Amino acid sequence: MDIMEALFTRRSIRRYTGEPVSDGDIKLLLNAGFSAPSANNRQPWHFIVVRDRNTVEEIAARHPYAKMLTQAGCGIVVCGDTKKQEREGFLIEDCSAAIENILLAAHGLGLGAVWCGLYPVQERAQVVADILNIPPDIIPVGLVVVGHTDEKGRSVDRFDEKKIHYDKWRAQD
Ligand SMILES: Cc1cc2nc3c(=O)[nH]c(=O)nc-3n(C[C@H](O)[C@H](O)[C@H](O)COP(=O)(O)O)c2cc1C
Repeated sequence: MDIMEALFTRRSIRRYTGEPVSDGDIKLLLNAGFSAPSANNRQPWHFIVVRDRNTVEEIAARHPYAKMLTQAGCGIVVCGDTKKQEREGFLIEDCSAAIENILLAAHGLGLGAVWCGLYPVQERAQVVADILNIPPDIIPVGLVVVGHTDEKGRSVDRFDEKKIHYDKWRAQD
């Protein structure tokens, strides 16, 4: 898929067929995450691939907006290593870039995915850290739920002239 087409047609997908995501596709998704830019090229990310049924059920039960994980059957938790990137803002940006790459790669592979937020909601991050045994110096930033899509993502146009400023900030009418 052409990169611009991928950018314009990606949508959050929350309905899945339940068919497992292949190991080959998971490796491609992870490689997309690893290919993201990061401040000072620190690459502070870790990726936890979650497919174990009990673990999937437990996360879905304890995250208020990730129920679709049980249908998808696969989640990738993107975490940031605070020892590799000491400025927390950069750490979150680095991991967010990796998450977006994974979302686009999933779309390019014909899969469906949705970003379920963990950071900065302390209890959501902590629940996932507890379930997955994540050490305290590693921040769980987001959960990417990924699976074979059972819905058609609508195309939307969010281009908005009012949010564009040329050369200097200009108050809009
Ligand atoms: C930081 C962040 C957290 C999000 N958390 C959730 C979530 O917990 N559950 C969910 O279903 N969608 C979540 N989303 C997806 C947004 O709802 C979605 O991106 C937004 O509605 C725009 O739709 P689109 O992705 O189809 O363009 C999250 C997105 C971001 C960027």
